[in-house]
Parts: sequence; C-alpha cells; structure tokens
Amino acid sequence: MTRKIILDVDTGSDDAVAIMLAALHPAIDLVAVCSVKGNQPLSSTTENSKRVLDLVHSDVPLYQGCKESFVREASPWRIKFEDRATIVDEEGKEHFIHEDFDMLPPSTRKIEDVPAPVFYVDYLKKAKEPVTIVAVGPLTNIATALSIDPDIKENIEELVLMGGADDEANASSSAEFNFFNDPESAQKVFQSGIKKITLCPLDVTHKAMVTKDDCRRFAEIGTPAAMFAVAMCEKRIEVHTQRQPLTLPDACALHDPLCVAYLIDPTVLTDVRYLHLDISLSGLTDGATIIDHRYFQDNRNVYIAYDGDRKKFVDIMCDAFRLSK
Ligand code: RIB
Ligand code: CA
Repeated sequence: MTRKIILDVDTGSDDAVAIMLAALHPAIDLVAVCSVKGNQPLSSTTENSKRVLDLVHSDVPLYQGCKESFVREASPWRIKFEDRATIVDEEGKEHFIHEDFDMLPPSTRKIEDVPAPVFYVDYLKKAKEPVTIVAVGPLTNIATALSIDPDIKENIEELVLMGGADDEANASSSAEFNFFNDPESAQKVFQSGIKKITLCPLDVTHKAMVTKDDCRRFAEIGTPAAMFAVAMCEKRIEVHTQRQPLTLPDACALHDPLCVAYLIDPTVLTDVRYLHLDISLSGLTDGATIIDHRYFQDNRNVYIAYDGDRKKFVDIMCDAFRLSK
C-alpha cells in the first residue's frame, strides 16, 4: 500500500533529500510539493525545489506558497535568528548550510498558478480520501490554509512535522529554526484539532544521523539522487563538525527526510511519546516548544519522537536512491 502525501518544503539541503525520497520511494505516492519561505527567500526555495524535482524526473505539481511568516515580519522587536550556520572554506569563501542549488541546471518547470494555501483548501475540500501532509519548513502555508477553512483538517489523515526541540535548539538559545521562523503558524497548527500530528524535533534528528561512511554508501549507489545526497550531506557534516558537533564524529543531522522515512517504515522512530505541546510566542523563548510531560495531562495534541534507528533511516534512503535514473 502506498501512502499519499503532500510535501511542504523550504528547500534547503535536507528538504532536497526529503523531496528525492518522497518522489522516488515506491511506498510513497507524492501528490504535490508546496514551497514556503524558510531556509531561503521564497524565490530560492521554489527554484531549488524545481531543480530537485527535475533531477529525479518527477512531474509532480509544484505550488509556490507564502513569502512571509504569519506575523513575525510585522514584529521587528522580536529576537533575531542567531546562527546562519555558515563555514569558511580554504579559499576564505563563506558557505551557508542551505544555499542556491547552482550545481543543478536552472529549471524550466512551470509552477501551478494557484498559491499553495489555496491549493490545500481546494484539494482537501474535494479529496475523496484523507491525505497525509509532511511539512518540513515554517508552517505558514498550512496555518494560512487552516485560517481560510478550518474544516479542511477533516481530510488530513496525519500531519508529520519537522520542527521544535525538547532538549536542543538551533535558531536561538531555546528554539528550533522552523518554529522560530513562524511561531504563530506553528501554534495555530498545534491548536487546530488535526486528528494526528507526529513531530520529529531536533531531539530525534540529532540521533538519526548520517555519517561520512553513509555518504560512501550513497556514492557507491552512484545515481543522480545518491550523488546529490552526498553533496548535501558532505556540506552538512562540515557545518555540524565546526558549529554543532553531534555524538558521532563526521556526522550530520538530515532532519527533513526522516519525516518521509517514518511514513515508509514507522519503526524508524523508536521512542514516540503522546504529549501536549504549545509554542512560545514572545520574549527570549520565542518559537520554543513548551512540552507538558505531566502524566495527568489530558489535552495531548502531538506524538513526539525522541529517538530513531539511524541505520534503518539510511537503508530507506539507499532503497530510494537506487531507483533514481
Ligand atoms: O531545524 C532544522 C530545520 O530547519 C530543517 O527543516 C531545515 O531544513 C531548516 O528548515
Ligand atoms: Ca526544511
């Protein structure tokens, strides 16, 4: 049985791998890709998404989404993003962990002529069967669609998210990048009443790592998708080594494809807890996840993954990359 999904991305090095995994793996039926501002301005996340879809010869429709977060841009007094995760190479050139995909040919692919939030509303209102949404950037498109028509939630089978952190942070001292960039949208989504939300926060993505040895496995596969994944991971490993070392040496977090891998094989997430989560909307903790671990909590709204099987994760990606031509 294949799982029908819509993928919402701010492409982005790890988003790119999520797109390739979703487009190539036979267990996934990719209905559409939606772009959103996040790792880069919207024009770049859209163009990067187009190039990656071209690379894997996918003709899935691409909808361009929101250019700005829900209200963050209107609140200039809020705390700023602290770390652009850059490194300087031997020639003194600065590299960002998420750059324009200049190594891929420019795309002539057309984007669809309705904006992503409108697509969500139209699609979900008409859908004969519920669909799963995987959102791995700021949640602006999803929150906007829910604002237009909250009833669309009835046709969302599951919402799988990359974002937040319980015991980690990367955008500020307490917040993860995706939720930090649009905290109001994230809070709206968690309060929406969507039947099932599964969250892959930094706690699990920093454990389900990809190492240099895994890159060698991808390189042996040698297909276009595998080689592009090698390029993305090698840069990420460099940035992690210099700025955010993980528990294994020569390793990186590859956050976004873990959400897709979970839909292919749920046992890739090994410690999943049903809890209540809110998003901080002000001050030094802006965008941080507030997770209620109290056992008597009776308002649980999200399944949160705390650990994962990194070997299984890499195997799943290898299976998909072998199918790239
Ligand atoms: O914090 C990690 C997340 O932020 C990932 O989705 C990455 O692509 C960036 O958007
Ligand atoms: Ca992302």
